[in-house]
Formats: sequence, structure tokens, C-alpha cells
Amino acid sequence: MTDITSQTEAALAAIAAATSLDALEAERLETLGKKGWVSLALKTLGGMSPEERTAAAPAIQSARASIADALDAKKAALEAAALEEQLARETVDLTLPAFAAPKGSVHPVSQVMDELAEIFADLGFAVATGPEIEDDWHNFTALNMDETHPARAMHDTFYFPDKTAEGREILLRTHTSPVQIRAMLDQGAPIRIIAPGRVYRSDSDATHTPMFHQVEGLVIDRDIHLGHLKWTLETFFKAFFEREDITLRLRPSYFPFTEPSVEVDVGYSTEGGRRVVGGHGDAPGHAWMELGGSGMVNARVLEFAGLDPMEWQGFAFGLGIDRIAMLKYGMNDLRAFFDGDPRWLAHYGFSPFDQPTLSAGVGARA
Ligand code: DAH
Repeated sequence: MTDITSQTEAALAAIAAATSLDALEAERLETLGKKGWVSLALKTLGGMSPEERTAAAPAIQSARASIADALDAKKAALEAAALEEQLARETVDLTLPAFAAPKGSVHPVSQVMDELAEIFADLGFAVATGPEIEDDWHNFTALNMDETHPARAMHDTFYFPDKTAEGREILLRTHTSPVQIRAMLDQGAPIRIIAPGRVYRSDSDATHTPMFHQVEGLVIDRDIHLGHLKWTLETFFKAFFEREDITLRLRPSYFPFTEPSVEVDVGYSTEGGRRVVGGHGDAPGHAWMELGGSGMVNARVLEFAGLDPMEWQGFAFGLGIDRIAMLKYGMNDLRAFFDGDPRWLAHYGFSPFDQPTLSAGVGARA
């Protein structure tokens, strides 16, 4: 009896004095482990007479309970202390200046996407996104291109072998226009968004890559008209190319999802073999270059997206991001955008610290 009491006291003292989890584990093995003295003492109960057992059991069991509690408490305390110590040791002072120049650079496409978001945010547009793996309902049908529409074949679509649960074809989106549908279905009207992102078509040469980037724009309200579209694009291009003499020409065209549809041309001249945006396309030494498609959203598209065309109308546009990046920053081969050549990236990439802002100029160079 006294033996157990003094052994228990010694064990509790050792547990209290333990300074590491290893020391604590050694103490656990010595007491509660298979061959620990508490376990062995418990085993002796089996060979005792009922009277002896009634007398001996409470002391052994309370020894076991108090030692187990002490081990648990000490373990928790040691773990908490270890965590504190680790947190103290691993602090990072984020206010320290970065000594090494950053090795990576921001890809021109990412930079231009940031510029787009910045300029359009100033005009009250939010950025919307949609999946790159789309279904043919969002990519085609809801955009007024049913199964038999010839424009479907023109998109050189990458299809997946599977279908959705609703039986829709699964594909890599061929344009950012399906985000129009998703945004209208999700948010209803009025709406003012841009949707930049990757799109895919089975096409490859000096000016086409199987993956490229577009930015979609969509404005829906009660009395939106083509004048709003022209002003918006003109204002955007002035900010983007950082010059006031941007002249746009809206040329009648056809897209299934807009009516009327126009192609957007911008006046440019050629300086030192490079196209420079600016001026009137019909002026001497100038010409027109197509930058994208747009128009008034087709009433059928509004219906597919759950909006009443008698109440709502709006414009949409789609621009090639790689194209306007090349024009602004002077690259001439689209394929180099996606080669990942470090020399190209070092030359055309941007510093991560060079965030485009309207006040500092959206095109500050690295
Ligand atoms: N989705 C078209 C394409 O990839 C571009 C486009 C044209 C988008 C007209 C539009 C639009 O929003 O109104 O060829």
C-alpha cells in the first residue's frame, strides 16, 4: 500500500519534471506500459481472493488514473510549448525589403488582363469567369447556334468523348461568349461585366495557336444602344493604348449572338515595320485593322439566358487579348507567347511590382 503511494508520488514527480515528449514517453512506459509497474500491479489482482482484491484494487486503480491524467496533461503542455517555440522560431518579417531581384516575370498576357480589369473597373464593370471545359449548350446553343448552325463547324472545336448528365456535348470553350450566358443566368439584369480567359480551337500557324485568350464584354440594361458600345470601346482603347487619337470604325458584320453585328476596326499606321495604333484609318499612310467583334445582344440569346427581351437589351463584344498585347508591346509572333522561352519572358515580361493602375499609367514598363 505505502509502496504504491510512494511509487505513485515518485511517478507524478517525474512526470512533472519531464522536459521533453521523449522523457514523458519513457515515464509512461515505466508506469502504464505493458511491463510498467502499474500494469503489473493490476495483473496481480486476478490472483487475489475477493477480500484481498477489494482491499488492494482501489489504490492501484487510483494510481493508474492519476498517473494517466498527469501524463495527458503534461503531454498537452509540452506540445503547446513546442508549438509556441516553433512559431517564435519561424516568424517571417514581411516588412523587410526584398533584397534579391525577383527571378520570374509577369507574362504580358497576365499583365494585359490586369490592365483590362483596371480600365473596365473604372467604367463600372466587374470581372466574371466561366469554365474552360464547357458544354455545347452554353458554348453554342444558348448563343443562338443550334446543332445545324454552320458557325459551329467554323469553330474547330475540341470535343471530349463524354457527355454531361443532361446529354450535352462536352468541349473546350471556343470563345469567352458562354460566360455571357452564365453571367446572365447567375446574376440576371442589369449587368456590366468583362470576362477575360483562355479559349481553344484546333488551329495552328504563325498567327493562331490552339489556345489563345479573349476578353468578352457584356452590358445589359433597359436602354443600351450601339452608341454606348462605341463610346465604351473607344474609351477603353484610349486608356489601353495610352493615346487620345484612337479612331474606331464599326463595320457591319454577322454573328449569331448579336443583331445587329459589327466588326470593330481601329486606325493605325506603320512605323519602322511595326503597326502603331492611332489616327483615322482612311488618312494618308493609315489603314484599318480589325480588333474584334461586337453588336447588340440577340433577343434569342436574352431568352435563352432567362431575360425578357421586351424589357432588357444590351451590347456584347469579344476581343483577342494576345492580339492587343502584341500591338501594345510590339511582339510579332504569337507562338512565342506560349513557348516559355526565358529570354523572351525576360525581355517582354513585367516586374511583379509593376501593378497597372490608372493613375500611374496602365502600361508602365518593367
Ligand atoms: N465570340 C466571337 C468569336 O470568338 C467574338 C465575338 C463577336 C464576341 C461578337 C461577342 C460579339 O461578344 O458580340 O469569334
